[in-house]
Amino acid sequence: MGGRLINPVSSLADAKLTPDADSEVLQISGGHQLHGHVRISGAKNSALVIMAGALLCGDDCRIRNVPLLADVEKMGQVLSSLGVQIERHGETLDINAKDFCSSKAPYELVTQLRASFFAIGPILARLGVAQMPLPGGCAIGARPVDLHVRGLQAMGAEVQIEHGICNAFVPGSSRRLKGAKIYLDMPSVGATETLMMAAVLAEGETIIENAAREPEVVDLANFCISMGAKIQGAGSSTITINGVTQLHGTDYTIIPDRIETGTFMIAAAITRSELLLSPVAPDHLIPVIAKLQEVGVSIIEEAADCLRVLPAEHLRATNIDTLPHPGFPTDMQAPFMSLLTLAEGDSIINETVFENRLRHASELNRLGADIRVKGNTAFVKGVSHLSGAPVLGTDLRAAAALVVAGLAASGTTTIQGLRSLDRGYDRLDLKLQQLGAKVKRVSEIINSPDVGSNGVVSPESVITS
Ligand code: EPZ
Repeated sequence: MGGRLINPVSSLADAKLTPDADSEVLQISGGHQLHGHVRISGAKNSALVIMAGALLCGDDCRIRNVPLLADVEKMGQVLSSLGVQIERHGETLDINAKDFCSSKAPYELVTQLRASFFAIGPILARLGVAQMPLPGGCAIGARPVDLHVRGLQAMGAEVQIEHGICNAFVPGSSRRLKGAKIYLDMPSVGATETLMMAAVLAEGETIIENAAREPEVVDLANFCISMGAKIQGAGSSTITINGVTQLHGTDYTIIPDRIETGTFMIAAAITRSELLLSPVAPDHLIPVIAKLQEVGVSIIEEAADCLRVLPAEHLRATNIDTLPHPGFPTDMQAPFMSLLTLAEGDSIINETVFENRLRHASELNRLGADIRVKGNTAFVKGVSHLSGAPVLGTDLRAAAALVVAGLAASGTTTIQGLRSLDRGYDRLDLKLQQLGAKVKRVSEIINSPDVGSNGVVSPESVITS
């Protein structure tokens, strides 16, 4: 293969994939318009689960349009720890799970990367046994895995959870999962993906009712189908999988990241800028586009995979309920809240998917926003302007919300929590710089750098990402 081998993690220290992210901050000099064209990377939430899906076959799998993210590196280390050959060539991954032999994923990695838990499906499907550490909760909620476990049990796996490890095995000589009819209490993206991967090699037919309909679920299904899986109904609430005995290698290209697309659309709207975005999948963004148009932003489809955002004269308030797809995506809730802090009027945002995903509201208030949170509802009173301040990104999308708010705030906004940002956004600061934003990563240990009159930090004090 000849690319850069991703080696197993020998210690937790090695797992620090972006060691500087903890000692760096993002410094934004706000109030500058953006201009030009931004290239959207491949979808993080497709890449991570499709990497796990490559465990399902013993041939070479080439996965293209993979974003350069800390989470992708981490998932690569999980796979390597299982005995999988994985090499990265820029935005292409070559994976071969022929020698995949270990059913025990490394504790320190799985607890940091929820998506790695989804690999329990293909591990059980291929080996008939799996020891998978529980992913645990995170900043946005408890994030249990009961739906994953119950579905695997319905397919014949015996599962015990003890000492933070999910021990699963398939009894019987064949050690092969059996097709089952599974109803998900809620349309969980991860549970749908875990069970779909488990089912593609199971004996007989599996039907997943109340399945998640997210584009990343469809992307995973298409990846598995390209390996020879028999899946119907992905993208609807009922997915039917007819198990096969073996899958073959594939060469697959991941869809564009709809959340990165939405984040840049909001960056354009909040800075009153005109921006061109491609490649994009407009059909994956219907609720986000509808809400942006509701607040006054014009969005033009320049081509099937290209959108142009035109600034709004005035931003109007609106209300948002986050919902499973095709509803408004929870991952867009935080960046959209930033936009609504500057709308004329009062907006109400209900976060219905996760129980603790409004923590960015208090950080936005430090920038001069006027947001009151009561339970899972944020009441946003539009203000005339934001002003820069030091803030902390508590999770991936919260950090993104603070970045877009900082682009509009007068003065300098300093954002800590870049480890979160690097997990989910491919070179966000570089892309923003190329659009004319005054954004730079600066080491926290360096005293306030010599900032030129035009807001650009002198080169010797800037650490590029
Ligand atoms: C996926 O997480 C995404 N992550 C999340 O993106 C995204 O926010 C979420 O789907 C919803 O769209 C990846 O794909 C790697 P869920 P997932 O299972 O699968 C509850 C980002 O910022 N639940 O659909 O973990 C759960 O607690 C990340 O990119 C159970 O109760 O989400 C939550 O309240 C954040 N039991 C709700 O379902 C279970 O067994 C939806 O979670 C599973 C989930």
